[in-house]
Formats: sequence, C-alpha cells, structure tokens
Amino acid sequence: MEEKRVLYSALHKEYPVIDHGEGMYIYDTTGKKYLDCAAGIAVVNVGHGVKEILDKIHAQLDNICFVYGGTFTSETRERLAKKIIDVAPEGMDKVFLCSGGSEAMESLIKFTRQYQVERGKLGKYKVISRWQSYHGNTLGTLSLGGRPSWREHFDELFPKFISHIPACNCYRCPYGLTEETCNCQCALELERTIKYEGPETVSAFVMEPVIGTTAAAVVPPKKYVEKVKEICDKYDVLFCVDEVITGFGRTGANFAVDHYGVTPDLIGFAKGLGSGYVPVGGVIVNKKIVDAIAAGSGALTHAFTFSGTPLACAGAEAVLDYIVDNDLVKRSYDMGEIFLEKLKALYKYPVVGDVRGLGLMLGIEFVQDKETKAPFEFNFSGEVSKYCFDNGVMVTGGVPGSADGQIGDAMQIAPPFIITEEDMDIVVDMLAKGIEYVMEKHGIA
Ligand SMILES: Cc1ncc(COP(=O)(O)O)c(C=O)c1O
Repeated sequence: MEEKRVLYSALHKEYPVIDHGEGMYIYDTTGKKYLDCAAGIAVVNVGHGVKEILDKIHAQLDNICFVYGGTFTSETRERLAKKIIDVAPEGMDKVFLCSGGSEAMESLIKFTRQYQVERGKLGKYKVISRWQSYHGNTLGTLSLGGRPSWREHFDELFPKFISHIPACNCYRCPYGLTEETCNCQCALELERTIKYEGPETVSAFVMEPVIGTTAAAVVPPKKYVEKVKEICDKYDVLFCVDEVITGFGRTGANFAVDHYGVTPDLIGFAKGLGSGYVPVGGVIVNKKIVDAIAAGSGALTHAFTFSGTPLACAGAEAVLDYIVDNDLVKRSYDMGEIFLEKLKALYKYPVVGDVRGLGLMLGIEFVQDKETKAPFEFNFSGEVSKYCFDNGVMVTGGVPGSADGQIGDAMQIAPPFIITEEDMDIVVDMLAKGIEYVMEKHGIA
C-alpha cells in the first residue's frame, strides 16, 4: 500500500475517507452514511451542502479570493461585521476577523493588554481564566485553558501571566455546595484571586459561558454570571467570553451571554459563523475598548495574513444570512429543549449521571455510581461514541478529566440546528445501544 504522508493526530488510526455531505448526513468513500450529530465538532450549524451558501461562495470565488486586509477592505467584509454587530449584545461596536478559534482567543488576550496600555494602566497585564475550560491550542490559548491532559507536556513553555480559578459546575460543585446552599463561592473565588494577585495587576477574566468539550455543556446559573461580571466591574477587570462554540446560536440565543443579560467587553467566536464552509473566527469588541484604542495609538498592534479575506467573509456572511433568514437560533433553542427531554430517557441506565445543556449544546456525564458521582477509571464516553461512530452516528465523547482534571468523562452532543425529532430518536436509540454495549463489555450491571 502506498505510504501515507499526512501527519494525523492519531498516527496508528485508520481514518475513513470522506466523500460528501448533505443536510444532517455525511458519506465516506465506501458509501457508509453517518448521521452527523456532532456537527463535525460543533461547527456545521447550518448542516452540510446548503446550496444557497455554496452559490454565494462560488460567486465570490469568481470575483476575488484574497487581498491583504491591511491593504484593502471589501464590501462583504464590512457587511459581515455590521451583521455580526446587529446580532451581538448591546454595546459591542466592532469586529476583528481571523481564521479560527485559537487565533480569535489569542487575539482577544492581546486586545485586553492593548486596552490597558492605551489607558496608561501598564501594570495591568494578568489574565484569570478557569479550570475545566478550553480556549485553543496555541501556547497562549492552551495556557489560558484548563484542560490538564492537553496542557501537561507544554507547561514549561507557557507564559506566566495567567492564573486559573475553578469553573462553575453545579453537578460537581468544587465547594461541595448544593442548589439550596449555593452562595456562589466559585464566583467569589474570582474576587479572592484578583485580591491575591493585586487588582492593579489584573487585566481580564476569561470564561466559556457554557463549557464546551472539556466538560460537555456545563451551564452556570444566572447568578454566577451576574456575580463574575459585577466583580470584574468592581476591580476594573475586563469581562471576556469565549463563544467559539456557543456564538451564533448554539445555545439557542445569538450568544450564550444573552441568556444572562450581561454585556462582555470582548467576545471570541469562530466555529458556527463559518459553519465549516469557510475558516473564520474573530473577536467582537466593546465600544469602550475601541474608544480607548482610537483615542490612544489609533492602531491595533496585531494582524494575521488571512484576517477578513473576501472569500472567508463572503462565506461567513452567507452562513449568517442563512441562520437569520431561517430563524435557526430559535430553532436551536426549541429543538434543544426537545432533545434534552429525549436524552433524559438515558437516565434509566445506572451509568448516566447527568444529562444537561442549553439549546443544542448538550452533554451527558457518565459515572460509576450515581450517588457518589465517582467517574469510571476508563474512558466510558469515548467507548460509547466509538460504538455510535462505527454504527453511523457521530457524537463527541472521550475527553478525559471532565470531573476533576484527571478523571471523569462526558460526551458532547452538538448537532446542526436543522436536526429533526426523527434524527434525535435515531441518536438516542444509538446512544442506548452504545451504553448497553459498553456496560456489557465491562461487566457493569
Ligand atoms: C471554546 C473553544 N475555544 C477555542 C477553541 C479553539 O478553536 P480552533 O480549534 O478553531 O482553533 C475551541 C475549539 O474547540 C473551543 O471549543
């Protein structure tokens, strides 16, 4: 057999070869069909092969694909930014564009620092983020994230301006509190950390409003988000959200922060805007930051070669138009409520500890024991998702450490917003079979 030359992330795995996709389904070159209930990896929110999006991309291809964004702008770039601001929370002013989530979050960190420099607050440089989070795979964003299994080999290389606090995870409250006894200790931890670090040194706080793949759809209560925002304001710390997964409708609102009624200073976004049709990401910037830069140096000390190319912008604009015109954000909310209820049927299994989510950002956490919430010593969710994949249904399982950074496993279910109830029934049925298969394989009663 011919030698393969791609450096895949799993060197010993045989990858199926993709052929084409349509709607909720993708097909490999053997003709095998997969129900894409993972939207790739929470990306393809509008579904595969949408003709009207492809037509607009083709039109742009015929016109021009690339100009350097530092030299030219384009009509589609301006229109896209305006349309993003139209759906963004009140107070957001301008959009920086790049090619993906890590670039977006790396840019976001740099903007927090530039803001402080422009205001003459040179001592403010530290960023506080949370364990049980993921913000990207560059050294800056990996150090910002809190996924130990991905961080461990790179720790020595990380910049040292970042510290972490525990994430808000009510199923596994890091302070042992319950819904009745909760007094938002995890939010107060932000205040404690700001004080220990020295408020005059802390520049920004970054969180995923709903945790993505690291812990699978962990939704904080409203009072948590309100409290961390209040603490940020009190200490003149920028409140930044990573909406790389959640942005553009995944949780059933344009942005996940919309559920909480708070306005962030910076929003990082990527996946859903391009929906896989084009690589695109970016940062939505609050007016207060734009004003500080405009009144100061008047220039970003930041750029990428592929920022806001006409092709990426045309694709993203087509996707956003499609989402708005077809009311897909509302659909994500409504279908999410239905899917969550259907998934709750899986509570009948002793290994299903938590079924959770918001909109179409859903998750299942697997445990050995529902009372103690002790996780499995092996990757239960990974084995279930492999079973599902082998049998033609895609979900995302297998990131270890969702419970405490070391162990625990949860599965993310983040389908395209076009999912139907029939599709959901297929997925729930397949998950049930997968759970039964893994239980039997490991002798779990
Ligand atoms: C919340 C979050 N932030 C950032 C990223 C990084 O995005 P990318 O893989 O496009 O660089 C991801 C990717 O999964 C993500 O889920």
